[in-house]
Amino acid sequence: MDKILITGASGFVGSFLVEEALKRELEVYAGVRSTSSKRWLKDERIKFLELSLNNQNQLNTVLSDHNFDYVIHNAGLTKANSQSELFRVNADYSCNLAKASMANSNLKKFTFMSSLAAYGTADYQKEGVVSVNSAPKPITSYGKSKLRAEKQLKFIPNLPLLIFRPTGIFGPRESDFLNIFNSINKGIALQVGLTEQNLSLVYVKDLVRVIMDATLSQHVNKDYFVSDGKIYKGSYFNQLIAHSLNKKTFTIKVPLSLVSVIATLTDIKSKITGKANILSRDKLPEIKSRNMDCDISNLVQDFNYIPQYTLEEAIKETTTWYKDNGWL
Ligand SMILES: NC(=O)c1ccc[n+]([C@@H]2O[C@H](COP(=O)([O-])OP(=O)(O)OC[C@H]3O[C@@H](n4cnc5c(N)ncnc54)[C@H](OP(=O)(O)O)[C@@H]3O)[C@@H](O)[C@H]2O)c1
Repeated sequence: MDKILITGASGFVGSFLVEEALKRELEVYAGVRSTSSKRWLKDERIKFLELSLNNQNQLNTVLSDHNFDYVIHNAGLTKANSQSELFRVNADYSCNLAKASMANSNLKKFTFMSSLAAYGTADYQKEGVVSVNSAPKPITSYGKSKLRAEKQLKFIPNLPLLIFRPTGIFGPRESDFLNIFNSINKGIALQVGLTEQNLSLVYVKDLVRVIMDATLSQHVNKDYFVSDGKIYKGSYFNQLIAHSLNKKTFTIKVPLSLVSVIATLTDIKSKITGKANILSRDKLPEIKSRNMDCDISNLVQDFNYIPQYTLEEAIKETTTWYKDNGWL
């Protein structure tokens, strides 16, 4: 049985990656911290491995003991109170893990979970879409940290690397999109900016399936953007959520100038509480962007990727999960 290590297994995407790896009958090791929650890692087949991503010696020892066939490095920070923290966790720790993985003669693939943010948004591309041929133009510290990680990983000789850059991922267990569901559940649909955003999205179950297909494939040294291949108006996304919640909504258009003021206030709150918020001044260029389109043609070509969920079905399943688990 092939052995796979999945880091960030305790989080939203990581826990679904673990479930997908179990479905593929792999021997699954969940890479966690001593403080990580195991609430979504209850399957008895899961083996746990405590990793200190900041400690190269510990990583070298643990990884050489285990001889993994596959490593999916999914642990990362999507928000933080400082750029240096993002760079340390998302870039430096990724390199530490990759170097330790290389000490392992069995390694067939090192799959890195980057983000569309590493390339910025389509607003900054002449072609109106971000693709593997685009010049990367990250517009947030988070995006810059993921791009730094990608560059450093590509420098590690002989690393059998695959890079994934998903757009916004939603689904059960996710707590940022939850804010939109919550607001619509109260009858308020928010539109950020006076013109509509064109969103790209991916449902977590479709994402983890294609990541696992790719990780187990012969493809190596390639990078892929991931969405469901479509573009949606923000208002359509809101309508589908309202429909799944059986709610009538009132739309409030929040001018970008007001969003900037709110971001300044949430930054102050984050400094006081020490808790990072997804709405921050650093994320403003992304929030202000109107076009999140990305090109997934190489994903379709290499893995015959066809999302199994329509947006409507994915939202319905997410709503049901939020309700059943008391999140809504
Ligand atoms: N969500 C999205 O829309 C999105 C889009 C594109 C890319 N991504 C990428 O997908 C990956 C997973 O994101 P997610 O949405 O699932 O986030 P999440 O729910 O916050 O999970 C993050 C995971 O990373 C772990 N982690 C964070 N800091 C760590 C550290 N210093 N050392 C070890 N582990 C650490 C967390 O462990 P603990 O539980 O111990 O904190 C957790 O398991 C990230 O790399 C993210 O950048 C996410």
